[in-house]
Amino acid sequence: MKSTSKAILLAGIIAGSLLTGSGAIAGVKNTKHNLGSTGTGANNMDGTGEVCVFCHTPHGSDTAAAVPLWNKKIDDTGFTTYDTLGTSTLDGGIAKVGSVSVACLSCHDGTQAMDVMINQPGSGGYNAAGARLAGTWTGAGVDGLMPAGIANLAKDLTNDHPIGIQYAGGGYTNAGGTPSTAADKDFKAPTKVTINSTPVWYVETGKNAGREKTDLPLYTRNTTDWQGGALAGENEPFVECASCHDPHVEDVAGSNPTFLRIANTNSDVCLACHTK
Ligand code: HEC
Ligand code: HEC
Ligand code: HEC
Ligand code: HEC
Repeated sequence: MKSTSKAILLAGIIAGSLLTGSGAIAGVKNTKHNLGSTGTGANNMDGTGEVCVFCHTPHGSDTAAAVPLWNKKIDDTGFTTYDTLGTSTLDGGIAKVGSVSVACLSCHDGTQAMDVMINQPGSGGYNAAGARLAGTWTGAGVDGLMPAGIANLAKDLTNDHPIGIQYAGGGYTNAGGTPSTAADKDFKAPTKVTINSTPVWYVETGKNAGREKTDLPLYTRNTTDWQGGALAGENEPFVECASCHDPHVEDVAGSNPTFLRIANTNSDVCLACHTK
């Protein structure tokens, strides 16, 4: 490459990075999920400018549920699950609150201060029991807690879309390769891939080819995790909070305040799974 074209390329890169502003962490940084001092939402802690640390730690995370490098204490107790509402239409079984949903609920059930961390920023900040960060919390709720209102789901999940629920009423199993038969026929067929010998399912939304963040991930759970323990260990796809939400997705100019994986125009989120 000639040096003039290199200079033009470099100028382009600089201009590009100026346009995208803060660069590498532009996504979650510009959302209500940035709880640090640079956060733009109503709930903030001035004790750190870090963004990821409110949810993730590179070392020493809580592994009580299958969630990536979780920096908060996981509490799966005390929930009332959707099935107890008793709708006659429900086909799927509901597992114990777990997987990625229990991670979301470690803030959204309103019981744990949102600046509680297992591993605080810097050296020597590890505390297996979790502790609040030093500093001042600003928020509408009780100090550090999720404010009352729709974002505080609390422990009663009967008024929320079912989570920890078998996709399509069950029937998609790991056995025999390709997905088998859905118990509830009113659902789109999921796609299955195998990663590290584990089956991984998702619902293709058609926005991008392959397995993308704009598809709706289903979360592999083993039915030994069943509420009643009735089914023998079988890996199956389940719907969890992050099937519909991506907790990192940038809210460009207020276009996606609810962190949806795809826009819900024409109820596209609902229709990605339900045939209605
Ligand atoms: C408000 C909580 C929250 C914050 C803040 C957050 N994450 Fe996450 N992150 C999650 C959750 C929940 C998952 C699991 C999501 C899933 O299963 O799709 C996750 C998953 C991930 C994954 C694996 C799945 C993927 O989407 O690639 C990576 C990598 C990741 N986070 C990196 C980061 C980084 C880097 C930051 C900071 C810039 C960050 N996260 C900030 C909650 C958060
Ligand atoms: C570290 C704490 C924390 C975790 C973990 C967390 N959130 Fe949040 N979330 C918040 C806060 C704080 C808000 C802003 C609430 C408000 O403004 O009242 C919020 C807002 C939201 C909103 C938008 C609410 C609205 O009415 O605008 C959605 C949707 C959401 N979170 C979903 C999730 C999902 C799904 C997960 C897991 C994948 C998750 N969150 C994990 C703290 C968290
Ligand atoms: C099946 C899809 C789906 C699942 C599963 C789901 N959500 Fe949502 N959620 C949505 C949609 C769609 C919206 C936007 C609703 C609207 O526009 O009023 C939403 C909105 C929200 C809001 C903002 C409420 C409001 O009206 O301002 C929060 C907070 C939230 N979800 C958290 C969660 C958490 C936490 C979980 C898991 C316990 C979860 N969601 C599971 C689809 C889902
Ligand atoms: C990721 C896939 C998925 C998405 C997206 C989704 N759902 Fe569901 N939904 C399910 C599953 C699975 C069930 C459980 C069905 C069963 O077992 O009978 C369910 C159940 C329901 C039920 C019935 C519960 C009952 O008591 O019978 C309603 C109503 C519903 N969803 C509405 C919605 C709406 C509205 C949206 C969009 C905001 C939506 N769903 C998005 C997967 C999804």
